[in-house]
Amino acid sequence: MSVSQHVSLKAHNSFGIDAQATSYCNVTTVPQLEEVLKNKGNEPIFILGGGSNMLLTKNIEALVLHINIKGIEIVEEDDDYVQLKIYAGENWHNFVQYCLNHNYGGVENLSLIPGNIGTAPIQNIGAYGVELKDVFVSCEAMNVKDQTIKTFTKDECEFGYRESIFKQNLKGKYIIVSVNLKLTKNKHHLFMDYGAIKTQLQASKITNPTIQDISKAVIDIRQSKLPDPKEIGNSGSFFKNPVISTEHINQLKDNFPDIPSYIISDKEVKVPAGWLIEKAGFKGKRFNNYGVHNKQALVLVNYGNADGNDIYKLSQLIQKTVKRIFEIDIETEVNII
Ligand code: EPU
Repeated sequence: MSVSQHVSLKAHNSFGIDAQATSYCNVTTVPQLEEVLKNKGNEPIFILGGGSNMLLTKNIEALVLHINIKGIEIVEEDDDYVQLKIYAGENWHNFVQYCLNHNYGGVENLSLIPGNIGTAPIQNIGAYGVELKDVFVSCEAMNVKDQTIKTFTKDECEFGYRESIFKQNLKGKYIIVSVNLKLTKNKHHLFMDYGAIKTQLQASKITNPTIQDISKAVIDIRQSKLPDPKEIGNSGSFFKNPVISTEHINQLKDNFPDIPSYIISDKEVKVPAGWLIEKAGFKGKRFNNYGVHNKQALVLVNYGNADGNDIYKLSQLIQKTVKRIFEIDIETEVNII
């Protein structure tokens, strides 16, 4: 295990921002992680997983630990279920494909989400009606201070919409090294209620879908509106969908009768931030080498060599404009570094 100095992180963040790490270490085993944390002295650390949910606005003056610990193990199984332990450095979508190849159900709706296993619990990744928490059993994480390993149960992770304890109280305190998930081996529970999935399956004339069919439908939908980070730098949804009061949405309907919303409770609704941003006139807007994606306004993009700060300023302008027009605060989903 070696530590390199002044390393560009461009290839390690899906936004493709060319920021530098003061020092960088590729960590491939749990003992290596322990060793590097023990020997780092006073140097601050920065944990890097798949780099798919962050916007770098400056160089990282820290020791960047790139968590590349790999492996998938069967913890237990019976005729109906299998529990897998997946190490943090496994790529999320490769893992989904592994499940489809073994006919393990539960993560097919989460196909093609960028990032790694170890970062999936941090923001409780979700798409098309399914969230990580639906298949999550527990995770093991290393305490940065004393290098002990703690197992976090699902309840202890305090999952919410793109939220967990690792983003809140325990931010920076633990490094997730593995995640246990429980998947179905037969009698899969299919989630097809999301409108776009239904439409996609109907278009393919599939009436009795398999988990593989659902994955394919999700991949087709994602590819039709989300840019591939290998071609255009991005971090998926840049903002969270805001929750507002029923009163507020009713007032907005006077001026914006077509505003979409999803009921959360009898007092609150969720509004698609993509719609608000599109209405505010930003969809497809390009400023030199960065802008707002033309097929999904929730996604900010780097067309090549953009400065992370420019993208950050654009995100602030979008927040301000949405606030001025709709009186709604939209929070970033991406971590701004
Ligand atoms: N919409 C627009 N204009 C746009 C984009 C969206 O009007 O440019 C409106 C439409 O009314 C559309 C609605 O927003 O029906 C919902 O759009 P979409 O189905 O694309 O979903 P989203 O709410 O924009 C969320 C997640 C995505 C996830 C999809 C599908 C968040 C922040 N984003 O997006 O997650 O893939 O649902 O489940 O919750 C991510 O987190 O990085 C991500 C891509």
